[in-house]
Amino acid sequence: MKRTLKGLRKGKQMSEDLLLDKVKKGIPPRHVAIIMDGNGRWAAKRGLPRLAGHRAAMTSIREAVEVAPVLGVEYLTLYAFSAENWKRPKEEVSGLMRLFEEMLKKEISELDEKDVRLKTIGRLEMLPESTRKTFEDGIDKTADNNGLKLIIALNYGGRGEIIDAVNKILSSESSKEKIEENDISNNLYLADVPDPDLVIRTSGESRVSNFLLWQIAYSEFWVTDVLWPDFRKADFIESVADFQKRKRRFGGA
Ligand code: FPP
Repeated sequence: MKRTLKGLRKGKQMSEDLLLDKVKKGIPPRHVAIIMDGNGRWAAKRGLPRLAGHRAAMTSIREAVEVAPVLGVEYLTLYAFSAENWKRPKEEVSGLMRLFEEMLKKEISELDEKDVRLKTIGRLEMLPESTRKTFEDGIDKTADNNGLKLIIALNYGGRGEIIDAVNKILSSESSKEKIEENDISNNLYLADVPDPDLVIRTSGESRVSNFLLWQIAYSEFWVTDVLWPDFRKADFIESVADFQKRKRRFGGA
């Protein structure tokens, strides 16, 4: 359903289509990263098990993947499972792993048809073998695609990524005496991906939660109260419209 959105100027209401046209004329964020939060609360509100919230999340992912390239977004990173999420009840963790596999197997052909290129970040080696394999197959299948780069963060932690980068440097250049900024940037999980311009977090929490710690140094943040399973194209468009109003100074005057 199309919504009336806040629009580019405070208080001014406009339709989703009108705002979309405006946003398409502006400079897009090349890379949008999303902390998809609130699945559990969405399910609880309906008296459903938490996994029902994670399942409902797929519609929101589909909407984000569809609207991102329309807005000119080239990279979309989704925080699907953090390095800290292992602390959740065993049944939720195993349910999530099964869901990742099921969803990816179901969606991969359509992603491929849409020219989406799948990538992952995180310590995948700790995932169940079949989950890891499903993602690796998806990465292989879409390797030649040139459309949206869809990056799924799985067993991902920002501190862990920096530690992994430093260890890579140490093992490849053990004679190095001093580490420069570029050394870290060049040894992140995906060194060729630009830093996120815009980070979206749903469900009203204003936390970074160990997400892309190195890369978000100058990212713009947009927090919405909308729970992730309720997140729709209109919300994405609204976030980009807000991003386009910001003056980015990257520490300059
Ligand atoms: C946070 O909500 C969400 C997660 C930890 C899991 C996200 C997983 C998906 C959206 C499925 C992704 C699927 C693929 C194929 C990438 P929460 O459980 O922390 O919600 P709460 O804060 O309300 O409890």
